[in-house]
Amino acid sequence: MERTGADIRFENATVTYPNGHAGLKGITLDIPAGQMVGVVGLSGAGKSTLVRTINGLVPLSAGSIAVGGHTLTGRGGTQLRGRELRELRSNVGMVFQSFNLAKRTTVINNVLMGRLYHSPAWRTLLGAWKNDDVELAMRALERVEIVGKAYEPAASLSGGQQQRVAIARALAQRPQVILADEPVASLDPPTSHVVMRDLARINAELGITVVVNLHFLDLARTYSERLIGMRAGEIVFDGTGAEADEAVFESIYGRSLTAEDVLEARAEL
Ligand SMILES: Nc1ncnc2c1ncn2[C@@H]1O[C@H](COP(=O)(O)OP(=O)(O)O)[C@@H](O)[C@H]1O
Ligand SMILES: [Mg+2]
Repeated sequence: MERTGADIRFENATVTYPNGHAGLKGITLDIPAGQMVGVVGLSGAGKSTLVRTINGLVPLSAGSIAVGGHTLTGRGGTQLRGRELRELRSNVGMVFQSFNLAKRTTVINNVLMGRLYHSPAWRTLLGAWKNDDVELAMRALERVEIVGKAYEPAASLSGGQQQRVAIARALAQRPQVILADEPVASLDPPTSHVVMRDLARINAELGITVVVNLHFLDLARTYSERLIGMRAGEIVFDGTGAEADEAVFESIYGRSLTAEDVLEARAEL
């Protein structure tokens, strides 16, 4: 059985990078279990920082983030480490712009990497996967409609197919949360829609909480039930796609909409 989503609660979450750059300025945000959230904003607004704090990839300087039963805190708090951090990360699947696959090995081996958190090291080193793990990996590939490629080398797949493998790898973790940091930034418009539809379907069918950073406003509006606009480390908009009109756009981007901000318009340039 698949698990359902987890709540994510930011409480005054603050990130100051060692060089003094502000990543997040006291974010308070409540994402209920099973929600699909799109995060938009200019480059440097803090989108990547926001998603990376959720699985502890970027540590908080102050405040806290509760993810399901785990709480990440800033300096001075009790930092999650060791087994507890591993447990949190096993609950949170991550998808990147650059797919991050092991290119020379097969698709199924890449998806099985999602089982690493749940398997003893000797099994993974010997490739001695349990039948249950292989079945779970095949089911994850089925969900993104790419099971026919299971035994092909990852490098032989197109960009869109590789991103679907990365989503299957995240799914094989049986996560409560999936974080996606600009997952379609390297893909063409039709393929971007395929990948976004996969994420939306996974969210709807499995109830996994999905937080996805997107460069293009139209994609974010189409596929997320809730849109968060960030600017300079702060949340400047939190609402539905329908509410995100021209004025909202200007408050997020500090300028009017251009063709560069819209996937469909760019496709026609
Ligand atoms: N590793 C880092 N070290 C120092 N500053 C960083 C680092 N990563 C991001 N920043 C800074 O934090 C701010 C937010 O960056 P980021 O979260 O990457 O924004 P986005 O994903 O919206 O482009 C920017 O000012 C950026 O320069
Ligand atoms: Mg980013």
